[in-house]
Amino acid sequence: MVRQIKTAVFPVAGLGTRFLPATKAMPKEMLTVVDRPVIQLAVDEAREAGIEHFVFVTGRNKGVIEDHFDKQYELESTLRKRGKSAELDMLEQDLPAAGQTSFTRQQEPLGLGHAVWCARNLVGNEPFALLLPDMVMHARPGCLKQMMDVYEARGGGNVLAVEEVPWDQVSRYGVVGAKNWNGNAFEIDGMVEKPKKVEDAPSNLIISGRYILQPEIFSEIEKQEAGAGGEIQITDAMMRLMKQQPFHGIKYNGTTYDCGDKIGFLAANVAFALERQDLGDGFRAALKRILASQGGL
Ligand code: UTP
Repeated sequence: MVRQIKTAVFPVAGLGTRFLPATKAMPKEMLTVVDRPVIQLAVDEAREAGIEHFVFVTGRNKGVIEDHFDKQYELESTLRKRGKSAELDMLEQDLPAAGQTSFTRQQEPLGLGHAVWCARNLVGNEPFALLLPDMVMHARPGCLKQMMDVYEARGGGNVLAVEEVPWDQVSRYGVVGAKNWNGNAFEIDGMVEKPKKVEDAPSNLIISGRYILQPEIFSEIEKQEAGAGGEIQITDAMMRLMKQQPFHGIKYNGTTYDCGDKIGFLAANVAFALERQDLGDGFRAALKRILASQGGL
């Protein structure tokens, strides 16, 4: 029996400088794709995959994330008085149960690896999921659920979701080497963080923001000096852990939108709005009008 994954870590302590001034006083994780904050989308994905403990690694200015995952009594009583039962039900459904959320602070944004390490005492000696909330996965079933299936089928270990990108973009990401494919799952046999030259990349499969990790990752992060870009990276620690434990990859079925980047964020809004029953037709007509007035595509 593999050890079940019940805890997910959400690092939300980054500065979000690419979205200034929007992120001056508001965390970038509260930016919305249509009407759902990206952090809510990541929590929805984790709940669908069976997660019961949600650990948020926050920083200054991030208190609103804690409020978002709490009851808002005044709002709820107003909605009740106005008979807005659909809205009330939605707020109720979006909320993890009492006691299922934990918050800790990173204090200084020293990099993703460091943010994950800050969660070590809340995670304990258990495997856990790691979700970068600004990577929005448009997938059915959700990306983490697809990863859980690979985790079960392959008897545990570590699992990373990957996606294919054009070769000229590999230098921007963590890239994995793949062997022994079985369907869309494979064994990871190498990793390179932001390869300088295309020849240094073992493939064009990039790590896309969802991880299942064994708790030994924490001691590997601890050993580490700052890596690429002066930050403590998670990839460096995973490369060391790979020498001791299996790492599996899944080319998951779905599309990733990097909502930490403006184009990715705008594209996610278009894609999610177009497929909404209540908005799709109206939004498509509005897009057509905009495109026509600007000379088409
Ligand atoms: P990014 O690389 O997108 O960095 O972080 P950022 O600082 O948030 O954004 P920019 O580049 O300044 O616009 C990826 C994820 O890791 C978290 C972020 O909150 C985001 O979810 N992170 C990053 C931390 O929690 N702590 C860090 O020190 C760095």
